[in-house]
Amino acid sequence: MGVHIPVLLDEVLECFSPQAGGKFLDCTFGGGGHTRALLERDDSIKVVALDRDPQAQERASGMLSEFSGRLSFVDMNFGALEGLEDSEFDGILFDLGVSSFQLDERERGFSFREDAPLDMRMDPRSGLAAADWLESVEPEEIVNAVRNFGEEKNWRSIVRVILEARGSGKLKTTAGLVSLIEDVTPERVKRMSKNHPATRSFQGIRIAVNEELAAISNALPIAFDKLKTGGVVCVISFHSLEDRIVKRQFRRLAGLPVDASDSTPMQLREKKAEMFSRRPVLAGEMEQSLNPRSRSAKMRALKKL
Ligand SMILES: C[S@@+](CC[C@H](N)C(=O)[O-])C[C@H]1O[C@@H](n2cnc3c(N)ncnc32)[C@H](O)[C@@H]1O
Repeated sequence: MGVHIPVLLDEVLECFSPQAGGKFLDCTFGGGGHTRALLERDDSIKVVALDRDPQAQERASGMLSEFSGRLSFVDMNFGALEGLEDSEFDGILFDLGVSSFQLDERERGFSFREDAPLDMRMDPRSGLAAADWLESVEPEEIVNAVRNFGEEKNWRSIVRVILEARGSGKLKTTAGLVSLIEDVTPERVKRMSKNHPATRSFQGIRIAVNEELAAISNALPIAFDKLKTGGVVCVISFHSLEDRIVKRQFRRLAGLPVDASDSTPMQLREKKAEMFSRRPVLAGEMEQSLNPRSRSAKMRALKKL
């Protein structure tokens, strides 16, 4: 409990190759694992760290005094990165998704393993808690969350029970939602699957409630503008739709077709950046065995020319 092991740390440091006097932006401070590693590389390195979770800010306070004058924390959603005045960074990191702190803290309502109010907001000061979101949005948004963001095969039955449960109070808690999902999960699926039947729906609803895909999609072009020439943006994603957004934006900036259907003529393409590799970097076997969260991590990095 209470420990967040930074994912792909060596690989991130290798891409950034931090030099004395370097200035970095960590858009997802979390528990500060990546930030700390950067600051410890050289005592002239500076980091600006962001997080939308007010508890991340509390966690940062010890590090703010430990690295006084070199670390600053900004309480913001990186979806609004244009509001950050600072720029000319040597490296910008996005380590997407939720932290172990968020998953482990029962009252935050992220986990299907413990009963709590169904909240799931990374920033509980804004937007709708998952319970209110499920009660009030158009049915298509719930389909989008469970089928597309959750990649849940049994989405039809799950969306149906959620809609039927509106107004009954069953959507107020994580345990209420879990039991609705369990009731419509076929026994065969429960026996065969490695994961809990609510895993995918919880993930999809969390992504929707926090508007996670829109945030990264908006932030990437602004992050690119905030890099120095020669600076590197590095993104660690945990979901295929996130990785797809990153891949397409990186390919476009590197002057490559974004996908097989992109027929933009070469002379209209502008190469503003270089990708470190065409394929994403995955965690090695050792890291995967030590940190299960790293198993679905994919890292892509891009250097500004
Ligand atoms: C996977 S954790 C980062 C862990 C961190 N790299 C470490 O080593 O401790 C992701 C963090 O990003 C934050 N986050 C996710 N989306 C965000 C957004 N749009 N704006 C700001 N912070 C965000 C979450 O609140 C969470 O604390």
